[in-house]
Amino acid sequence: MTRLTSAITGYWDDAAGAFDDEPDHGLRAAGTRAAWDRLLRAWAPAGPADVLDVGCGTGSLSSLLAAAGHRVTGVDLAPRMIERARAKLAGAGLTGRFLVGDATAPPTGDERFDLVLCRHLLWTLPDPHAALRAWVARLRPGGRLLLIEGRWGEGGPYVGGAETLPWNGGVTAGDLTAAVRPLVRDLRVEPLSGDPGLWGGPVGDERYALIAEV
Ligand SMILES: C[S@@+](CC[C@H](N)C(=O)[O-])C[C@H]1O[C@@H](n2cnc3c(N)ncnc32)[C@H](O)[C@@H]1O
Repeated sequence: MTRLTSAITGYWDDAAGAFDDEPDHGLRAAGTRAAWDRLLRAWAPAGPADVLDVGCGTGSLSSLLAAAGHRVTGVDLAPRMIERARAKLAGAGLTGRFLVGDATAPPTGDERFDLVLCRHLLWTLPDPHAALRAWVARLRPGGRLLLIEGRWGEGGPYVGGAETLPWNGGVTAGDLTAAVRPLVRDLRVEPLSGDPGLWGGPVGDERYALIAEV
C-alpha cells in the first residue's frame, strides 16, 4: 500500500462513525431514502442481478439494492466502513457480502457482475482510468456501469498528497464521459443537481449519474 493509499484508508476509517450523519450518506430521512431507491430501481437491471458496489462506504446504496432483491457485493478500502455496511444490512434483515479491498482491483477473483456501481469514489482514486477499465472488465456482456459522481471543488482538508489525485475535487460529466466512452458500447448522463430530495437540500455544484452499457 502506498503512503497516499494508507492515508486515505485512515481518513475513511476515522470518518466511518459519523459518515451516515450526512443526509445523502445515511439516507435516514424517508424522503431521501425513497428518492435514491426510485433512481436505483430505474437504473439497475431487471430481476435479481449481481451487483458490485465499489467504495461502498457504510453500504447505504448496497442496502437499497439488496432490498430490491439484488445480490450485492460491496468493496471498500476502510475496514470500519465495511464493518458498518455489514451491520447495516444485517440490522435490516438483508443479505450482502462486504469485502475490504481496493476498488481498482476488487478482491472478487474472476467473478462477473451485471451492474458495477460507484458513488462519490472516483475523485479519491490515484488512478481512476485504471479503475474504470477494471470495472468494465468485471461486467458480463450486456452489463451496466453506474457512476454517480460530481464536481464539487476542493472542499475541506483531506489527506496529504490529495492534490496529486487526478480528479481531486470531483470530475465533470464531460471529462468522465470522455474517459468512459472508449470503454463501452453506449452511455448517457442524467443530471442530479436539480433534485434537492437526493441531497437533503439544494446543491449548487455539478452532480450526475453516468449510466453505461458494455
Ligand atoms: C465519499 S465515500 C462514498 C461511500 C459510498 N459510495 C456512498 O456513496 O455512500 C468514499 C468511500 O470510498 C472509499 N474508498 C476510498 N478509496 C478507495 C479505494 N481505493 N478502494 C475502495 N474504496 C475506497 C472510502 O473508504 C469511502 O468509504
